[in-house]
Amino acid sequence: MGPQPTDILDEFIDLEPEIENFGEAVIRGLSAEKKFLPCKFFYDARGSQLFEQICALEEYYVTRTETALLRTYSSEISAIFGSGCNLIEFGSGSSTKVRILLDSMNDPAGYTAIDISREHLLASCAELAQAYPDLSVRAVCADYSEAMDLPALSSADHRPIVFFPGSSLGNFNEVEAVDFLSQVADFLGKSGGGLLIGIDLKKDEAVLNAAYDDAKGVTAEFNLNLLVRANHELGANFDMSAFRHKAFYNSAEGRIEMHLVSAREQAVTIGDKILEFAADEHIHTENSYKYSVEQFSDICLEAGFGQPKVWCDENDLFSVHYLETS
Ligand code: AVI
Repeated sequence: MGPQPTDILDEFIDLEPEIENFGEAVIRGLSAEKKFLPCKFFYDARGSQLFEQICALEEYYVTRTETALLRTYSSEISAIFGSGCNLIEFGSGSSTKVRILLDSMNDPAGYTAIDISREHLLASCAELAQAYPDLSVRAVCADYSEAMDLPALSSADHRPIVFFPGSSLGNFNEVEAVDFLSQVADFLGKSGGGLLIGIDLKKDEAVLNAAYDDAKGVTAEFNLNLLVRANHELGANFDMSAFRHKAFYNSAEGRIEMHLVSAREQAVTIGDKILEFAADEHIHTENSYKYSVEQFSDICLEAGFGQPKVWCDENDLFSVHYLETS
């Protein structure tokens, strides 16, 4: 047996996020009057693979646009960071985008990757550690939507830069977004660090709808995988042919919504619970908020940050913001 990912990393901290109740969340969400499931449960091993496939889809402009922005402005961004920084990435997934930063940063000291999907996190961090032997690499398996002890996850000797790409903040509602950013601002204010964050922008609804309902059906499979996961992990008996994927832009709320729709009246059993579904009943599985640059800057101000430095692509599809506390 070759070296294990944990042998290659400087540190692995496992906060055991998903033991924290996929089962309870499913029972609670599917017993509610308006059924819902939290989107953080998308990312089991299969869900993480499907998300990687989504990122490569023609319709999903998010990943390639943000990647191009980071490539174009990496020197400018790295100059702002300064030398000897410790990068802390939330929702690190395959840790691909961070390499663009690491390749242009002056003497990066460390990288802390935080992700809910344990195997994917470990494999990605091990690969990164091999590619950057001088970098101190730390993997943290955690649910960043819960309050976290950020100072404990960072090295006090180096200036921290929080990296939160992919517009994952868009999966929080506004209150959650302000709470999360306030927590980050509080930490960065005390440690003199900065935040680099990718935010998806409001745009033509047809572009948004296609990005979340692609022709190959990968996003549909990603959404339906929540029910596959419930069947595997909780012994539920969802009939996969009796639910379909639905995604649409809700312009009043400024967000893409994803739902799973019951094709017929049906009952599903999970343990000793029987859950009833009416025909056409929805399970709301995800919101993905889209902002204008001004709206997002207002949220950051509310959270305690100062004026941002903002980079957008030429079609104003996506934005990258650098912030420090005021
Ligand atoms: C992770 N997150 C930013 C993605 C998004 O665009 O909201 C998740 C996703 N859901 C469907 N496609 C991608």
